[in-house]
Amino acid sequence: MIKKGIILAGGKGTRMSPITKAVNKQLLPIYDKPLIFYPLSILMLAKIKNILIIVNKGQLGQYKKIIPDGKRFGIKISFLEQDKPRGLPDAFILGENFIKKDNVAMILGDNFFYGQSLSKMLNHCIKIKNGAKVVLHRVINPENFGVAVVKGKKIISIKEKPKKFISNQAITGLYFLDNKVVKFAKQLKPSKRNELEIVDLLNKYKKHNKLSAEFLGRGGAWLDTGSIEDFYKTTNFVSAIENQQGFKIACLEEIALNNKWIEKGDIIKAIKFYGNCEYSKYLKKIIS
Ligand code: DAU
Repeated sequence: MIKKGIILAGGKGTRMSPITKAVNKQLLPIYDKPLIFYPLSILMLAKIKNILIIVNKGQLGQYKKIIPDGKRFGIKISFLEQDKPRGLPDAFILGENFIKKDNVAMILGDNFFYGQSLSKMLNHCIKIKNGAKVVLHRVINPENFGVAVVKGKKIISIKEKPKKFISNQAITGLYFLDNKVVKFAKQLKPSKRNELEIVDLLNKYKKHNKLSAEFLGRGGAWLDTGSIEDFYKTTNFVSAIENQQGFKIACLEEIALNNKWIEKGDIIKAIKFYGNCEYSKYLKKIIS
């Protein structure tokens, strides 16, 4: 059972400059909460209580204002700084002392997931004992993502941002990996764009026939908030769902309460922390 998770939330957010010049992208709002709440909610829905957040050098102070540690959610959260964007697999090299001898999940700080069968899928993925598992989702612009050619659930090949169409199954930024990930990440050489590539790492598992796929399915939504357009698309999505249903997406205290990691008294403390706002009103509602 995977009990540790990493959120890779660094990067310079260059594609969203100038709004990312002073503030890290993952702290910008997706509708009514910072982007980082959404990937954090996914790890919490996967019942992962030990989480490492990797942030850009110099931006730790900003993160600590909103997530000083995991106490508010009844979990353990630690932070590490990445001095520059060396690529996604760098998370496993930086996180070696956090991972130790365990298996680990990783989610990219700018990835948004939503769907009815999500918790069920996560519950299944964290059971991985050896190998690596990726979550695939159909997209109309595969050239912007890592892509997998599949036959049923079997992965035939994977490629990062293929210029020529090979498949419409994007590899989302949610990975479940066994402990070999640290060793494999250390063996990687930087690519032409001078980054360690996640696809090269996954190919190491593939070579040993240890790479498997899970599908989010058409009832699920996955959005990569990498560009301004996608950022607003995701905001509109959250706003539409929340305002129609009256439920919040990624209310971390609600997830923690449902998981029985915190009690009503902790929610009252959280309300004091957030102050008088819509989020607090929602928290009041769930304990009344
Ligand atoms: O979103 C899914 C896609 O994410 C996958 O389909 C691709 O295979 C994968 O390479 C990645 O592609 P992106 O082009 O979206 O990666 P990007 O460089 O935008 O980084 C994703 C997030 O990770 C972003 O929030 C910044 C953070 N990051 C990135 C790098 C390279 C770091 O914190 N450190 C890094 O060194």
